[in-house]
Amino acid sequence: MNILSVASEVYPLVKTGGLADVVGALPAALSPHGIRTRTLVPGYPAVLQKLKKKKKVGSFANLFGSPASVLAADLDGLDLLVLDLPTLYERDGGPYVDATGRDYVDNFRRFAALSLAAAEIAAGDVVAGWKPDIVHVHDWQTALTPVYMRFGRAASTPTVMTIHNIAFQGQFGPEVFAELALPPEAFSMQFVEYYGDVGFLKGGLQTANAITTVSPSYAQEILTPEFGMGLEGLLKSRLSDLSGIVNGIDADVWNPASDPLIAQHFSATTLKQRGANRRAIEERFGLEQGNGPIFCVISRLTWQKGMDLLAEVTDEIVAMGGKLIVLGSGDTALEGALLAAASRHRGHVGMVTGYNEPLSHLMQAGSDAILIPSRFEPCGLTQLYGLRYGCVPVVARTGGLADTIIDANEAGLSAKVATGFQFTPVNADGLRLAIRRVFRAYNEPKVWARLQTQGMKSDVSWARSAERYVSLYSGLLGKG
Ligand code: ADP
Ligand code: GLC
Repeated sequence: MNILSVASEVYPLVKTGGLADVVGALPAALSPHGIRTRTLVPGYPAVLQKLKKKKKVGSFANLFGSPASVLAADLDGLDLLVLDLPTLYERDGGPYVDATGRDYVDNFRRFAALSLAAAEIAAGDVVAGWKPDIVHVHDWQTALTPVYMRFGRAASTPTVMTIHNIAFQGQFGPEVFAELALPPEAFSMQFVEYYGDVGFLKGGLQTANAITTVSPSYAQEILTPEFGMGLEGLLKSRLSDLSGIVNGIDADVWNPASDPLIAQHFSATTLKQRGANRRAIEERFGLEQGNGPIFCVISRLTWQKGMDLLAEVTDEIVAMGGKLIVLGSGDTALEGALLAAASRHRGHVGMVTGYNEPLSHLMQAGSDAILIPSRFEPCGLTQLYGLRYGCVPVVARTGGLADTIIDANEAGLSAKVATGFQFTPVNADGLRLAIRRVFRAYNEPKVWARLQTQGMKSDVSWARSAERYVSLYSGLLGKG
């Protein structure tokens, strides 16, 4: 079975969050099932520079006003197709924002072009001799693909649309519709029209044959006004086509027994060796040496991630004898509040702003617990990395966090299944209570070591979820 996966980011070429990890890891998990995935991504400078050997396999005479090429490349077994379209993708900033952090004004065009290219590739017209059996698109940036397919020559090829985060919908003013090269009837309730605007995600959710999201709990939550962000009605109307499949992790990239980015390797039977990683982060963050727990946070600094709650509990963590280290970037007010906490508690709270993949590995390897106080979380990956690295997750009971962590309550502990701490309500008091529970468990070394080893033993691989994608794909073949 051939799949065309379409996404705006892919690890290890370009990553702003978990989407890239998932798009980069799923193909290898599907391959033992006889599924060959080709992944189409935009030709950002970072992508073109990192791919040494690439071959032109197709072209467009005119895609949104410019000629474009499709390049093929292999990256450690990842079969990539790159849309080379310099007028839209050759930019100095990130994949979505310019160097000053502002959205590119032509994002609608940049991602409509990616979606249209995918639809034409799906029709078999672009890459000679290759045509997918199923097209799988991710998030709003690629959500117009099934819409273009519906009105083009690939209308009978089945499509899957995965929602990684419904908060980002790709909503633009009605004036952009004229540029999308869609027939007038596409500007209607059944397609892209969304409260008078153009909704990319909305169009994809209306037209894809199957809709998935990245955990079973989030699949339920987005049917409610609180989490559906305006799309709950549409999703309810498509209930029989909606499912939640929890993300796995790339167990080779995230393996404490072989990770080249950490100070010392360890496994569930050699937990003491985490000590060298602890010392490395103490040094990196300028922490005083001591015995209390080190909490880490590796996150986009946003309201979604509950980073304002974190800022509220730093004093308490320090008062109880703990330390906190934060790696993240995002909202400048939140960044400021956390930097202020770091200077208030020099030696006890440390912060590195920015995006730093190697440091994120070291923090998981050397910290005792990872705090994830998200207000909503479609899946979350950092708790899964925490499980694998013996860095006990402390999570809000929501979405994928609720689905992947087993709470260390009495029942969980005595049944020897607990892997972390869940808390609700998701507010500063809820987080405070969870932190107190962490201190209590941490002060009982046997309990703590059991939590770590149970986490390290839990299955966070892609194996089970890959099977669910396989049965979804198989069910769709012949449908469309
Ligand atoms: P989201 O995609 O909503 O940001 P996830 O937990 O699914 O949340 O994925 C976040 C990914 O980005 C993880 O791989 C995490 O390690 C990584 N990450 C987040 N912030 C940073 C950062 N500042 N530096 C390095 N990696 C980060
Ligand atoms: C999104 C979500 C996150 C999820 C990731 C990968 O960025 O916010 O919860 O883990 O996508 O699916």
